[in-house]
Amino acid sequence: MESGRTGPADITGKAVASFDGADDERLRELMQALVRHLHGFAAEVGLTQQEWRSAIEVLTATGHITDERRQEFILWSDTLGLSMFVDALANPLPERATESTVLGPFYVPGSPLRPYGADISEQSAGTPALVHGRIVDATTGEPIAGAELDVWQNGDNRLYAVQDPEAPEHHLRGRFQTREDGTYAFRAVRPVPYPIPDDGPVGRMLAATGRHPWRPAHIHVIVRAPGYQTLVTHVFDRESRYLDSDTVFAVKPSLVRTFVERDPDDPETPAGIDGPWCSLECTVALAPGPAREVADPGRTA
Ligand code: BEZ
Ligand code: FE
Repeated sequence: MESGRTGPADITGKAVASFDGADDERLRELMQALVRHLHGFAAEVGLTQQEWRSAIEVLTATGHITDERRQEFILWSDTLGLSMFVDALANPLPERATESTVLGPFYVPGSPLRPYGADISEQSAGTPALVHGRIVDATTGEPIAGAELDVWQNGDNRLYAVQDPEAPEHHLRGRFQTREDGTYAFRAVRPVPYPIPDDGPVGRMLAATGRHPWRPAHIHVIVRAPGYQTLVTHVFDRESRYLDSDTVFAVKPSLVRTFVERDPDDPETPAGIDGPWCSLECTVALAPGPAREVADPGRTA
């Protein structure tokens, strides 16, 4: 038996070296860096055994509350800023391209394709909002015909349709295509701020640390076009609360836009609107590059 004592650094060294034989080079890199950073974290804060037991209880509770409707792991990633960090690493977009932000857990693939100007609300859901603009090439400014916008948002009850058993399946979501001149338009409602699901371990962390669970009002959009990088983003309402304290750190100043309030006697009032409404101009610039699949995130009820 070797003489000498074993310290924390020896343990880190052995754990890192245990992956030396991994055939998959990337997996080896990930696991070795993970061990180094986890051990470094424990050393930096002087992690106690009681604290580590509590952390394991939190992870266990996260697993227990997660199922096909509720995705608590994504909420951890979002509220620790990791989703936005990974997004920023993945999407170094050119200067004039519209910035990306988090997908969030309420995206449902397969929204119905709706015609130019159609309404995404299938029941009353708040102040009508006419959203319109163009999809353009970020490098040339040229319009992109046939680009697809895949949009989803919450209603004035704060809920996305997937969270609301009373809502029709396709309520407040839809896909639209740009016309030859790159223009698109759809009817939506003015979104409202909402709390992320906070009745689980993430909510307890937010409460224990004096944070709130709220997100500022926004509309989600994925924009796809052949030959362009798929863009996952939001448009935020400039008048919303929580723009400077979004609990998932997803606000970027360039994504904050003005919802212009309009009267029903405004000559541009769309047919079928007889009360106050608003309009939102939102031009989106796509970066040339390969399109990508956007994964179904799994629900967070
Ligand atoms: C959302 O914007 O839908 C969202 C994003 C992160 C966590 C929860 C909700
Ligand atoms: Fe959202």
